[in-house]
Amino acid sequence: MIKRMNGIRIAPSVLSADLTRLAEQVSQVLAAGADWLHVDVMDGRFVPNLTFGANMIEALRRLTDKPIDVHLMVLEPERYLEPFAAAGASVFTFHPEATVHVQRQLAAARSRGMLAGLALNPGSPLALAEEVIADLDLLLVMTVNPGFGGQSYLASSDDKIRRARELLTTHGSGALLEVDGGVTAQTIATAHAAGADTFVVGNAIFASPDPAREVRDLKRRCLVTV
Ligand code: DX5
Ligand code: ZN
Repeated sequence: MIKRMNGIRIAPSVLSADLTRLAEQVSQVLAAGADWLHVDVMDGRFVPNLTFGANMIEALRRLTDKPIDVHLMVLEPERYLEPFAAAGASVFTFHPEATVHVQRQLAAARSRGMLAGLALNPGSPLALAEEVIADLDLLLVMTVNPGFGGQSYLASSDDKIRRARELLTTHGSGALLEVDGGVTAQTIATAHAAGADTFVVGNAIFASPDPAREVRDLKRRCLVTV
């Protein structure tokens, strides 16, 4: 089980990395202070795109001891719980629409030593998380419709993050509040001010000519909103 940390976390999404230079780019962002690595698993059904599986988690686990934050955009996430835990995943986050037994899967993730996360699409209500709040280690508020990197942060997101933070506070939940999609040096400060503490960042880091500088800049922009 990984320890809850205070403060903010930056989780670069390897979806936007140059896969021909994956090890080099991952070491660069980790050396610059990235806290987690985010792995987007897409099955071509829950979302239109098709990406990585357990072999990517295994490969990243050989590169670092830092938490590997796995975001499953797949139907029936329960099929991947065991293989991903065995591959070294630290956080197991899935979407409630993708499985019939949401609470059971959250509990199963915890019992395999992973943090249990629930991801909500922009159109999905926070009430889906409220029903299982005691089982959550992480709530992921999607700030784009999932499927692809490089999309724009939805303007409605800050309000939803604020309401998500209120929900966690009201229930005395210590779950992390993560945002994913369109997070950049321009959008991170208001997301942080609204209550997010964990930031997935793909394009803004890996499309930059200097990914390490970008990681440091993203962190700095949160500090000024504390
Ligand atoms: C989107 C994925 C994201 C994606 C974020 O479906 O869940 O994790 O990699 O990429 P950016 O930061 O480019 O929006
Ligand atoms: Zn993601």
